[in-house]
Amino acid sequence: MSTPSLLILPGDGIGPEVMAEVSRIIDWYGDKRGLKFEVSHDLVGGSAYDKHGTPLHDDTMAKAQEVDAVLLGAVGGPKYDNLDFSVKPERGLLRLRKEMDLFANLRPAQCFDALADFSSLKKDVVAGLDIMIVRELTSGIYFGEPRGIIKEGNERVGINTQRYTESEIARVARSAFELARKRSNKVCSMEKANVMESGILWRDVVTEVHQAEYSDVELSHMYADAGAMQLCRWPKQFDVIVTDNLFGDLLSDAAAMLTGSLGMLPSASLGAPMANGRPKALYEPVHGSAPDIAGQGKANPIACILSFAMALRYSFDQGDEADRLEAAVEQVLADGKRTADLLGEEGVTPVSTSEMGDAILGALDASL
Ligand code: IPM
Ligand code: MG
Repeated sequence: MSTPSLLILPGDGIGPEVMAEVSRIIDWYGDKRGLKFEVSHDLVGGSAYDKHGTPLHDDTMAKAQEVDAVLLGAVGGPKYDNLDFSVKPERGLLRLRKEMDLFANLRPAQCFDALADFSSLKKDVVAGLDIMIVRELTSGIYFGEPRGIIKEGNERVGINTQRYTESEIARVARSAFELARKRSNKVCSMEKANVMESGILWRDVVTEVHQAEYSDVELSHMYADAGAMQLCRWPKQFDVIVTDNLFGDLLSDAAAMLTGSLGMLPSASLGAPMANGRPKALYEPVHGSAPDIAGQGKANPIACILSFAMALRYSFDQGDEADRLEAAVEQVLADGKRTADLLGEEGVTPVSTSEMGDAILGALDASL
Protein backbone atom coordinates (compact mmCIF):
# COMPACT_ATOMS: atom_id res chain seq x y z
CA MET A 1 0.00 0.00 0.00
CA SER A 2 1.21 3.54 -0.74
CA THR A 3 2.18 5.95 2.06
CA PRO A 4 -1.03 6.88 3.92
CA SER A 5 -2.07 10.51 3.58
CA LEU A 6 -3.21 12.92 6.29
CA LEU A 7 -4.78 16.34 5.87
CA ILE A 8 -4.21 18.55 8.92
CA LEU A 9 -6.72 21.33 9.50
CA PRO A 10 -5.60 23.10 12.71
CA GLY A 11 -8.46 25.62 12.62
CA ASP A 12 -8.88 28.40 15.18
CA GLY A 13 -8.07 29.32 18.77
CA ILE A 14 -6.02 26.63 20.50
CA GLY A 15 -6.37 24.35 17.43
CA PRO A 16 -2.96 25.25 15.93
CA GLU A 17 -1.16 24.90 19.30
CA VAL A 18 -2.49 21.47 20.13
CA MET A 19 -2.05 20.30 16.53
CA ALA A 20 1.62 21.34 16.63
CA GLU A 21 2.14 18.70 19.34
CA VAL A 22 0.35 16.09 17.21
CA SER A 23 2.71 16.90 14.33
CA ARG A 24 5.65 16.08 16.58
CA ILE A 25 4.04 12.74 17.46
CA ILE A 26 3.45 11.99 13.77
CA ASP A 27 7.14 12.71 13.10
CA TRP A 28 8.10 10.43 15.97
CA TYR A 29 6.17 7.54 14.40
CA GLY A 30 7.92 8.20 11.09
CA ASP A 31 11.39 8.28 12.66
CA LYS A 32 11.08 5.60 15.31
CA ARG A 33 8.43 3.19 14.07
CA GLY A 34 8.82 3.50 10.31
CA LEU A 35 5.21 4.68 10.06
CA LYS A 36 5.42 7.41 7.45
CA PHE A 37 2.54 9.66 6.50
CA GLU A 38 2.19 12.06 3.64
CA VAL A 39 1.01 15.17 5.48
CA SER A 40 -0.61 18.27 4.00
CA HIS A 41 -2.04 21.32 5.78
CA ASP A 42 -4.97 23.61 5.07
CA LEU A 43 -7.42 26.05 6.66
CA VAL A 44 -10.84 25.54 8.20
CA GLY A 45 -13.22 27.69 10.22
CA GLY A 46 -12.46 31.30 11.03
CA SER A 47 -8.94 31.09 9.67
CA ALA A 48 -10.34 29.92 6.31
CA TYR A 49 -12.95 32.68 6.42
CA ASP A 50 -10.24 35.30 7.01
CA LYS A 51 -8.39 34.17 3.90
CA HIS A 52 -11.15 33.02 1.54
CA GLY A 53 -14.40 34.49 2.88
CA THR A 54 -15.71 30.97 3.48
CA PRO A 55 -15.10 28.61 6.43
CA LEU A 56 -14.20 25.78 4.04
CA HIS A 57 -12.80 26.38 0.57
CA ASP A 58 -13.96 23.98 -2.15
CA ASP A 59 -10.35 22.94 -2.76
CA THR A 60 -9.99 21.99 0.90
CA MET A 61 -13.23 20.01 0.73
CA ALA A 62 -11.92 18.17 -2.34
CA LYS A 63 -8.62 17.40 -0.60
CA ALA A 64 -10.45 16.07 2.46
CA GLN A 65 -12.32 13.64 0.20
CA GLU A 66 -9.07 12.29 -1.21
CA VAL A 67 -6.89 11.72 1.85
CA ASP A 68 -6.91 8.67 4.08
CA ALA A 69 -7.75 10.73 7.18
CA VAL A 70 -8.36 14.31 8.20
CA LEU A 71 -7.06 15.64 11.54
CA LEU A 72 -8.91 18.73 12.74
CA GLY A 73 -8.09 21.04 15.68
CA ALA A 74 -11.01 23.29 16.57
CA VAL A 75 -13.14 25.97 14.95
CA GLY A 76 -14.76 29.21 16.09
CA GLY A 77 -14.12 32.25 18.22
CA PRO A 78 -15.74 35.50 19.37
CA LYS A 79 -14.28 37.35 16.42
CA TYR A 80 -16.71 35.48 14.19
CA ASP A 81 -19.82 35.72 16.40
CA ASN A 82 -21.52 38.30 14.22
CA LEU A 83 -20.90 36.65 10.87
CA ASP A 84 -23.83 35.51 8.80
CA PHE A 85 -24.93 32.00 9.82
CA SER A 86 -23.94 30.56 6.44
CA VAL A 87 -20.26 31.48 6.84
CA LYS A 88 -19.78 30.89 10.56
CA PRO A 89 -16.68 28.78 11.37
CA GLU A 90 -18.87 25.86 12.52
CA ARG A 91 -20.38 25.59 9.02
CA GLY A 92 -16.97 24.49 7.75
CA LEU A 93 -16.91 21.57 10.15
CA LEU A 94 -20.53 20.64 9.45
CA ARG A 95 -19.83 20.66 5.70
CA LEU A 96 -16.91 18.27 6.16
CA ARG A 97 -19.06 15.91 8.22
CA LYS A 98 -21.95 16.03 5.75
CA GLU A 99 -20.08 15.80 2.45
CA MET A 100 -17.72 13.09 3.69
CA ASP A 101 -20.84 11.36 5.07
CA LEU A 102 -19.18 10.72 8.44
CA PHE A 103 -22.23 9.21 10.05
CA ALA A 104 -20.64 7.49 13.06
CA ASN A 105 -19.03 9.77 15.61
CA LEU A 106 -17.12 7.81 18.24
CA ARG A 107 -16.59 9.68 21.49
CA PRO A 108 -14.86 7.57 24.12
CA ALA A 109 -15.05 8.81 27.70
CA GLN A 110 -12.30 7.17 29.64
CA CYS A 111 -11.19 8.20 33.10
CA PHE A 112 -7.45 7.84 33.62
CA ASP A 113 -6.68 6.71 37.17
CA ALA A 114 -4.41 9.69 37.78
CA LEU A 115 -7.29 12.03 37.02
CA ALA A 116 -10.14 10.42 38.94
CA ASP A 117 -9.95 13.23 41.50
CA PHE A 118 -10.56 15.88 38.85
CA SER A 119 -14.09 14.85 38.06
CA SER A 120 -16.89 16.83 39.65
CA LEU A 121 -18.31 13.43 40.63
CA LYS A 122 -17.07 11.22 43.45
CA LYS A 123 -13.97 9.23 42.69
CA ASP A 124 -15.58 5.79 42.97
CA VAL A 125 -18.24 6.82 40.45
CA VAL A 126 -15.68 7.61 37.73
CA ALA A 127 -12.50 5.64 38.52
CA GLY A 128 -11.91 3.11 35.75
CA LEU A 129 -14.72 4.51 33.61
CA ASP A 130 -14.53 3.45 29.96
CA ILE A 131 -17.58 4.16 27.83
CA MET A 132 -18.06 4.89 24.16
CA ILE A 133 -20.72 7.25 22.86
CA VAL A 134 -21.62 6.67 19.23
CA ARG A 135 -23.32 9.80 17.98
CA GLU A 136 -25.10 9.94 14.62
CA LEU A 137 -23.39 12.85 12.86
CA THR A 138 -24.85 13.57 9.45
CA SER A 139 -28.58 13.86 9.94
CA GLY A 140 -31.25 14.69 12.51
CA ILE A 141 -32.04 18.22 13.57
CA TYR A 142 -28.60 19.50 12.56
CA PHE A 143 -29.44 19.07 8.88
CA GLY A 144 -33.22 18.45 8.61
CA GLU A 145 -35.41 20.56 6.33
CA PRO A 146 -37.43 22.73 6.58
CA ARG A 147 -35.32 25.04 8.69
CA GLY A 148 -34.97 28.77 9.07
CA ILE A 149 -36.45 31.82 10.72
CA ILE A 150 -39.72 32.84 9.07
CA LYS A 151 -42.30 35.53 9.65
CA GLU A 152 -45.74 34.45 10.84
CA GLY A 153 -48.05 37.42 11.23
CA ASN A 154 -46.24 39.86 13.43
CA GLU A 155 -43.67 37.57 14.88
CA ARG A 156 -40.70 35.51 13.82
CA VAL A 157 -40.70 31.73 14.11
CA GLY A 158 -37.53 29.63 14.36
CA ILE A 159 -37.79 26.21 12.70
CA ASN A 160 -35.63 23.12 12.70
CA THR A 161 -36.63 19.63 11.74
CA GLN A 162 -35.69 16.34 13.31
CA ARG A 163 -35.65 13.79 10.51
CA TYR A 164 -34.21 10.28 10.35
CA THR A 165 -34.55 7.63 7.66
CA GLU A 166 -34.48 3.95 8.52
CA SER A 167 -31.18 3.45 6.72
CA GLU A 168 -29.55 6.34 8.61
CA ILE A 169 -30.56 4.77 11.91
CA ALA A 170 -29.60 1.24 10.85
CA ARG A 171 -26.07 2.12 9.74
CA VAL A 172 -25.13 3.94 12.94
CA ALA A 173 -26.72 1.16 15.00
CA ARG A 174 -24.48 -1.34 13.16
CA SER A 175 -21.42 0.76 14.03
CA ALA A 176 -22.40 0.69 17.69
CA PHE A 177 -23.02 -3.07 17.73
CA GLU A 178 -19.73 -3.76 15.96
CA LEU A 179 -17.84 -1.68 18.53
CA ALA A 180 -19.64 -3.33 21.42
CA ARG A 181 -18.51 -6.75 20.20
CA LYS A 182 -14.90 -5.59 20.64
CA ARG A 183 -15.63 -4.17 24.11
CA SER A 184 -18.06 -5.39 26.80
CA ASN A 185 -20.77 -6.38 24.32
CA LYS A 186 -23.46 -3.99 25.58
CA VAL A 187 -25.33 -1.24 23.72
CA CYS A 188 -27.75 1.26 25.23
CA SER A 189 -29.75 3.22 22.65
CA MET A 190 -31.08 6.64 23.70
CA GLU A 191 -33.92 8.68 22.14
CA LYS A 192 -37.20 10.29 23.20
CA ALA A 193 -39.65 7.69 21.92
CA ASN A 194 -42.11 8.98 24.53
CA VAL A 195 -42.56 12.30 22.71
CA MET A 196 -40.97 12.07 19.25
CA GLU A 197 -41.99 9.98 16.23
CA SER A 198 -38.36 9.98 15.11
CA GLY A 199 -37.60 8.45 18.50
CA ILE A 200 -40.17 5.70 17.98
CA LEU A 201 -38.65 4.87 14.60
CA TRP A 202 -35.15 5.02 16.11
CA ARG A 203 -36.11 2.46 18.76
CA ASP A 204 -37.84 0.19 16.22
CA VAL A 205 -34.95 0.17 13.76
CA VAL A 206 -32.27 -0.36 16.42
CA THR A 207 -34.33 -3.29 17.71
CA GLU A 208 -34.75 -4.76 14.21
CA VAL A 209 -31.04 -4.52 13.40
CA HIS A 210 -30.27 -6.09 16.75
CA GLN A 211 -32.61 -9.03 16.23
CA ALA A 212 -31.52 -9.67 12.67
CA GLU A 213 -27.75 -9.27 12.99
CA TYR A 214 -26.50 -8.72 16.53
CA SER A 215 -28.61 -10.74 18.95
CA ASP A 216 -25.38 -11.80 20.73
CA VAL A 217 -24.98 -8.19 21.94
CA GLU A 218 -26.93 -7.05 25.01
CA LEU A 219 -29.26 -4.19 23.99
CA SER A 220 -31.19 -1.78 26.21
CA HIS A 221 -33.13 1.42 25.50
CA MET A 222 -33.40 4.61 27.54
CA TYR A 223 -35.07 7.95 27.09
CA ALA A 224 -32.29 10.45 26.54
CA ASP A 225 -33.20 12.58 29.57
CA ALA A 226 -33.07 9.54 31.84
CA GLY A 227 -29.83 8.59 30.11
CA ALA A 228 -28.32 11.95 31.04
CA MET A 229 -29.34 11.35 34.63
CA GLN A 230 -27.90 7.82 34.64
CA LEU A 231 -24.65 9.10 33.14
CA CYS A 232 -24.20 11.31 36.19
CA ARG A 233 -25.53 8.77 38.68
CA TRP A 234 -23.60 5.62 37.73
CA PRO A 235 -21.84 5.94 34.37
CA LYS A 236 -20.08 2.59 34.68
CA GLN A 237 -23.38 0.81 33.90
CA PHE A 238 -22.76 1.73 30.23
CA ASP A 239 -20.48 0.26 27.60
CA VAL A 240 -21.57 1.67 24.21
CA ILE A 241 -24.28 4.34 23.97
CA VAL A 242 -25.82 4.99 20.55
CA THR A 243 -27.86 8.12 20.02
CA ASP A 244 -28.82 10.79 17.51
CA ASN A 245 -26.95 13.92 16.50
CA LEU A 246 -28.37 16.43 18.99
CA PHE A 247 -28.69 14.11 22.00
CA GLY A 248 -25.19 12.85 21.24
CA ASP A 249 -23.85 16.40 21.27
CA LEU A 250 -25.28 16.99 24.74
CA LEU A 251 -24.59 13.57 26.25
CA SER A 252 -20.98 13.54 25.05
CA ASP A 253 -20.19 16.87 26.70
CA ALA A 254 -21.69 15.55 29.93
CA ALA A 255 -19.71 12.32 29.62
CA ALA A 256 -16.55 14.32 28.93
CA MET A 257 -16.78 16.08 32.23
CA LEU A 258 -16.96 12.74 34.05
CA THR A 259 -13.37 12.22 33.02
CA GLY A 260 -12.14 15.39 34.68
CA SER A 261 -11.51 17.73 31.79
CA LEU A 262 -12.85 18.40 28.34
CA GLY A 263 -9.19 18.72 27.40
CA MET A 264 -8.83 14.94 27.49
CA LEU A 265 -11.45 13.71 25.04
CA PRO A 266 -10.72 12.58 21.48
CA SER A 267 -13.20 11.66 18.78
CA ALA A 268 -13.35 9.82 15.49
CA SER A 269 -15.94 10.51 12.81
CA LEU A 270 -16.21 7.61 10.41
CA GLY A 271 -18.06 7.00 7.16
CA ALA A 272 -18.31 4.21 4.62
CA PRO A 273 -15.18 2.36 3.45
CA MET A 274 -13.26 3.97 0.58
CA ALA A 275 -11.85 2.05 -2.40
CA ASN A 276 -8.72 1.17 -0.36
CA GLY A 277 -10.86 -0.35 2.39
CA ARG A 278 -10.21 2.43 4.91
CA PRO A 279 -13.24 4.31 6.19
CA LYS A 280 -13.72 7.96 5.33
CA ALA A 281 -12.46 9.54 8.52
CA LEU A 282 -11.99 12.76 10.43
CA TYR A 283 -10.41 12.90 13.88
CA GLU A 284 -10.84 15.84 16.24
CA PRO A 285 -10.73 16.64 19.94
CA VAL A 286 -14.15 17.10 21.55
CA HIS A 287 -13.10 20.42 23.10
CA GLY A 288 -13.61 23.69 21.28
CA SER A 289 -11.27 26.48 20.25
CA ALA A 290 -11.00 27.95 23.80
CA PRO A 291 -10.30 31.51 22.58
CA ASP A 292 -9.78 32.72 26.16
CA ILE A 293 -6.50 30.81 26.45
CA ALA A 294 -5.44 30.69 22.79
CA GLY A 295 -1.85 31.58 22.01
CA GLN A 296 -0.69 31.33 25.62
CA GLY A 297 0.76 27.82 25.62
CA LYS A 298 -1.78 26.75 28.26
CA ALA A 299 -3.91 24.38 26.22
CA ASN A 300 -3.95 20.66 26.91
CA PRO A 301 -2.84 18.82 23.75
CA ILE A 302 -3.94 15.39 25.04
CA ALA A 303 -7.40 15.30 23.41
CA CYS A 304 -5.86 16.07 20.03
CA ILE A 305 -3.03 13.57 20.57
CA LEU A 306 -5.52 10.87 21.59
CA SER A 307 -7.50 11.69 18.44
CA PHE A 308 -4.40 10.77 16.45
CA ALA A 309 -4.26 7.52 18.46
CA MET A 310 -7.81 6.85 17.26
CA ALA A 311 -6.62 7.49 13.70
CA LEU A 312 -3.88 4.88 14.17
CA ARG A 313 -6.50 2.41 15.40
CA TYR A 314 -9.48 3.05 13.10
CA SER A 315 -7.87 4.27 9.85
CA PHE A 316 -4.46 2.63 9.78
CA ASP A 317 -4.96 -0.71 11.52
CA GLN A 318 -2.22 0.12 14.02
CA GLY A 319 -3.99 -0.88 17.22
CA ASP A 320 -0.71 -1.71 18.96
CA GLU A 321 0.75 1.69 18.14
CA ALA A 322 -2.47 3.36 19.33
CA ASP A 323 -2.11 1.41 22.59
CA ARG A 324 1.47 2.62 22.84
CA LEU A 325 0.45 6.26 22.44
CA GLU A 326 -2.40 5.95 24.94
CA ALA A 327 -0.08 4.27 27.42
CA ALA A 328 2.43 7.12 26.98
CA VAL A 329 -0.31 9.64 27.84
CA GLU A 330 -1.35 7.59 30.84
CA GLN A 331 2.27 7.37 32.01
CA VAL A 332 2.78 11.12 31.80
CA LEU A 333 -0.37 11.75 33.81
CA ALA A 334 0.69 9.16 36.39
CA ASP A 335 4.01 11.04 36.64
CA GLY A 336 2.04 14.10 37.69
CA LYS A 337 2.37 16.24 34.56
CA ARG A 338 -0.59 18.63 34.40
CA THR A 339 -1.62 21.34 32.01
CA ALA A 340 -3.52 24.28 33.52
CA ASP A 341 -6.97 22.71 32.93
CA LEU A 342 -5.95 19.84 35.24
CA LEU A 343 -4.85 21.76 38.29
CA GLY A 344 -6.31 21.37 41.72
CA GLU A 345 -3.68 19.40 43.56
CA GLU A 346 -1.50 21.24 46.07
CA GLY A 347 1.91 22.35 44.92
CA VAL A 348 1.58 21.34 41.28
CA THR A 349 2.92 23.80 38.72
CA PRO A 350 1.28 23.50 35.30
CA VAL A 351 3.29 22.49 32.29
CA SER A 352 2.84 24.26 28.97
CA THR A 353 1.31 22.73 25.85
CA SER A 354 4.72 21.95 24.38
CA GLU A 355 6.10 20.65 27.68
CA MET A 356 3.21 18.19 27.75
CA GLY A 357 4.20 17.23 24.19
CA ASP A 358 7.84 16.80 25.32
CA ALA A 359 6.76 14.54 28.17
CA ILE A 360 4.61 12.34 25.92
CA LEU A 361 7.45 12.04 23.39
CA GLY A 362 9.74 11.08 26.28
CA ALA A 363 7.31 8.37 27.35
CA LEU A 364 7.11 7.12 23.75
CA ASP A 365 10.92 6.90 23.61
CA ALA A 366 10.91 5.00 26.89
CA SER A 367 8.40 2.52 25.46
CA LEU A 368 10.83 1.30 22.78
C1 IPM B 1 -19.23 19.13 18.70
C2 IPM B 1 -19.45 20.61 18.60
C3 IPM B 1 -20.06 20.92 17.25
C4 IPM B 1 -21.43 20.29 17.21
C5 IPM B 1 -20.12 22.41 16.88
C6 IPM B 1 -18.76 23.07 16.97
C7 IPM B 1 -20.72 22.63 15.53
O1 IPM B 1 -20.21 21.06 19.68
O2 IPM B 1 -18.54 18.57 17.83
O3 IPM B 1 -19.73 18.53 19.65
O4 IPM B 1 -22.42 20.87 17.68
O5 IPM B 1 -21.53 19.19 16.69
MG1 MG C 1 -20.62 19.56 21.13
